[in-house]
Amino acid sequence: MAADNISNGLVPDWRYHVDVIEGMNYRDDDVFMCAFPKAGTHWIWEITTMLLDGRPEYSPVSKVTSMLEFSTTDELDRLTSPRLFNTHLPYKLLPSDAVRKGAKIIFLQRNPKDIAVSYYSMLKQKKNAFPGNFNDWNQLFLFHPGNSYLTVYPKNWFEYTLEWEQVMRSEQRLNLHMIYYENLKQNPVEEITRLSRFLGSSTETMYISEVANKCSFRNMKKANIETKDLSRLQGEKTMFDSMFRKGEVGDWKNWFTVAQNELFDKVHSDKMRECSFLYQYTV
Ligand code: A3P
Repeated sequence: MAADNISNGLVPDWRYHVDVIEGMNYRDDDVFMCAFPKAGTHWIWEITTMLLDGRPEYSPVSKVTSMLEFSTTDELDRLTSPRLFNTHLPYKLLPSDAVRKGAKIIFLQRNPKDIAVSYYSMLKQKKNAFPGNFNDWNQLFLFHPGNSYLTVYPKNWFEYTLEWEQVMRSEQRLNLHMIYYENLKQNPVEEITRLSRFLGSSTETMYISEVANKCSFRNMKKANIETKDLSRLQGEKTMFDSMFRKGEVGDWKNWFTVAQNELFDKVHSDKMRECSFLYQYTV
């Protein structure tokens, strides 16, 4: 499945970009946004773009234009500063020069049950992208190692998240701001103010409120249909629709059976027993 999804353009082939990323020309005001797929990357990207621009206006381009694993060196070099990169690649594949020099990193998290549902829904919107049912998907999400059938990315959700936890414990140079999707959903103005402070941007209340309003689920969905140049998605309209599917906390309850939920909780508590991250499954 993973290879099919690369060849049909559903996801980029990160393996061809590792050298580009490591050799990129880092600028002091570059910002890196990291998230596991389906954590709400488009949402935070749009908010952060507005904060860096100092104007609550939608970017005319989609976030794929600044995805590290999707871009050539020339494309990265052509972006105007301050550049906001985004990636689903794990910490170890970020440009080491940037990390060493204290680049600002935004790390977005979301509860893994909603991530699993959102990911499954995205693949189902794309014909043949995942042939199984939700139970098959749940098994893959829980048990398959990264770099395998489940995902074209090198780590599954557990591996990806545990790596960040480990890095946050041990890496003194890390200049990181962590956001939880659920907190942003509940307290957008407060969370956007925290983010803006981290970026060194304005924290003026009217301005932050306008950013929050422009980036509400309904407004962003509409704006993305009306204003974005989607040519980089190679006509994948159905895939793009799944980027703005429901935008809720707790949709997983409409998908998981009691047994699937119990299994998920058990595996999660086994694999994440040393991990300090806490997730909200309902609001
Ligand atoms: P759902 O599939 O649960 O609706 P990513 O951008 O990382 O691919 O994540 C996509 C998920 O973020 C989708 O979740 C999508 O609906 C949700 N999302 C996108 N924009 C949002 C917004 N403005 N507010 C809340 N959720 C949003």
